[in-house]
Amino acid sequence: MTRSLRHLVSVSDFSATEIAQLMQTALRIKSMLAVPSDKHRLRQLLKNSVGSVVFYESSTRTRFSFGIALALLGMQAVHSEAAGVFSSAIKGESIEDTIKVLAGYSGDVIILRHPETGSAARAAAVSTVPIINAGDGTGEHPTQALLDLFTILEARKNRNPGTITLVGDLKNGRTVHSLVELVVRLSATKLRFASHVRLVSPPELGLPAVLGNKLRESGIECSQYCRLERAILEDSDVVYTTRVQKERGSKVTDGELLAYQLTPAHVQTLPETAIIMHPLPRNAELPEAIDKNHRARYFEQAHNGVPVRMAILLFLLHPLGLSVLE
Ligand code: CP
Repeated sequence: MTRSLRHLVSVSDFSATEIAQLMQTALRIKSMLAVPSDKHRLRQLLKNSVGSVVFYESSTRTRFSFGIALALLGMQAVHSEAAGVFSSAIKGESIEDTIKVLAGYSGDVIILRHPETGSAARAAAVSTVPIINAGDGTGEHPTQALLDLFTILEARKNRNPGTITLVGDLKNGRTVHSLVELVVRLSATKLRFASHVRLVSPPELGLPAVLGNKLRESGIECSQYCRLERAILEDSDVVYTTRVQKERGSKVTDGELLAYQLTPAHVQTLPETAIIMHPLPRNAELPEAIDKNHRARYFEQAHNGVPVRMAILLFLLHPLGLSVLE
């Protein structure tokens, strides 16, 4: 039995039911990874599969957590870091030609990070194996949003949908774009995890209007601010802060940075049960002084990348999909 071809270019590629199953499987994998015999079982699940990890942009978390997820499922991986320099892209080869060639090498999946928005969709349009978008320009970063959701669900357990405050470069931050798409996708389902989204950014780095409109159209309360204020923090359940994407031309003045930098004083105004998230890497917007606060979840969030990406690989590649772990 072979799995029908599916790609993960956007969080919208998965239905709410599939996302719910993915979350359950990731939770199961997370607990299995702590038990040696279960870890051994996981290593058998995709041991005949091979993945190509093709990164045209720098990465620590996505690249390593995918590499480790592949290994923990028994897969072999062929990596290309700095693919813009070390692949034939430097000789003028198009992303379409590269993907057609890689997809024909009898591998099973291509995990692609690329600086151009829309590149993952272009790759998927010509690929005969699943494409996983590991970040395309200012577009999307769907596997990050899924691990963000996992982290939020784990932390909030069965509490009611809450208020998420998104802070920083909301214009060019693709992790935020995918998270907002996920809020919209799940807004009318049992997985609805946010009822109010607050957007805090310098005016020139605001969330693209199309995404703000999607939030409102799906019945999510949405409000915008240009500085972190006590009233915003007092009833935030999740504060998701992001760095300025300098590599994409984003700039902030020192004054703007101070207006949204999360300080230890800010953290004290958050509810005890609130969590602080960041996709990392961080800069001055999230001082290390906050790391020891019990609300800080960003390293755990990064670590959740392994079980969530393992679940995504099983979903796309295993003949039984996620039911292999039922
Ligand atoms: N969060 C994230 O995508 O980090 P990397 O760029 O290090 O992969």
